[in-house]
Amino acid sequence: MSEITSTRIGQTQVIRFNRPEKMNAITRDMYAGLTSALNDAAGDFGVRTVVITSEGDHFTAGNDIKDFMANPPTEESSDVARFLASLLEFPKPLIAAVKGNAVGVGTTMLLHCDIVIATPNTSFSMPFTSLGLVPEAGSTKLFPELVGYQRAARIFMTGDPFTADEAKEMGLVETITSDPEKVAMEIAEQIGQQPPQAIINTKALMKAGKHDAVAAVMKAEFQIFALALQSEEAADAFMKFMSKKSK
Ligand code: COA
Repeated sequence: MSEITSTRIGQTQVIRFNRPEKMNAITRDMYAGLTSALNDAAGDFGVRTVVITSEGDHFTAGNDIKDFMANPPTEESSDVARFLASLLEFPKPLIAAVKGNAVGVGTTMLLHCDIVIATPNTSFSMPFTSLGLVPEAGSTKLFPELVGYQRAARIFMTGDPFTADEAKEMGLVETITSDPEKVAMEIAEQIGQQPPQAIINTKALMKAGKHDAVAAVMKAEFQIFALALQSEEAADAFMKFMSKKSK
C-alpha cells in the first residue's frame, strides 16, 4: 500500500500518512504523493474539504532523515518545495487531525491548515536548529505572528516540544479530543453542506493579507535550508540520529 493514501469519503478527501513503522517520517516520494493528492483535491469540484491525518499512533516524525541525507532537496523544483507550495496555494478548507508526535514539518504544516484537531497527548516540536537546519514552510513568519516573537524564539532556538494544551492556548490547535479524526470528519461534513464558492472565497480572503509575504519567506527559508542541509552542523546531527538508531 502507498505510504500516502488519498480516499474520498462523501465530499471529503482524506489524505493519510501511512508509514507507521517509521513514525510516518516523510520521504521524497511521500512529499510527491502529498502534492499530487492536494492538487487533485483542489481541482476536483466534488471535493469540498480535505482532512489530513495519519495511520498509527503518530502524526509524523517530520522529514525522513535518512532520505534527506541521501537526497538533499536543494532545488525549488524538489518534492518538498513543491509540497510546501501546494500547501500555501491550497484553496479549500484543510483540516488536520493529529496525535502522538508531530515533529518538524509535522508541526509547521499545521500553520497552513484552517482547523487543527489534536489528541490530549499530541507533542509538537520543531527541532530544526538542533539538526543544524532552519525552520521552513513559512514558519519563521507565521509562528512568531501566532505566538509572539519571544515565545517563538524560545521554541525554535531550544527545539523544545510543547503540549496540545499549549498549542491550543497559542491558537495552533482549535479542539482537543480523544478522537480527532472523527471530529475532523464531522467538521468537514458540516463545511461540505455550505455553498462551496462562498467557502473558497472566504478562505482566499482570510489568507490574502499574508499570502505574498509568506511565499517570499518560504523562498528565503528554502534557500538557507538547502545550504544548511549540506553543512557540517547538519551532517553531525544526522549522523548522531542514525548512529543512535543503528545501536
Ligand atoms: N527519519 C527517519 N526515520 C525516523 C524518523 C525520521 N525523522 N523519526 C523516526 N524514525 C524511525 C526510527 O528510525 C525508528 O525506525 P527503526 O525502528 O527502524 O529504528 C522508528 O521510526 C521509530 O522511531 P524511534 O526513534 O525508535 O521512536 P522513539 O519513540 O524512540 O523516538 C522521536 C521518537 C520522534 C523522538 C525520534 O524518532 C526522533 O527524534 N526522530 C527524529 C525527528 C526529527 O528530527 N525529524 C526531523 C525534523 S526536520
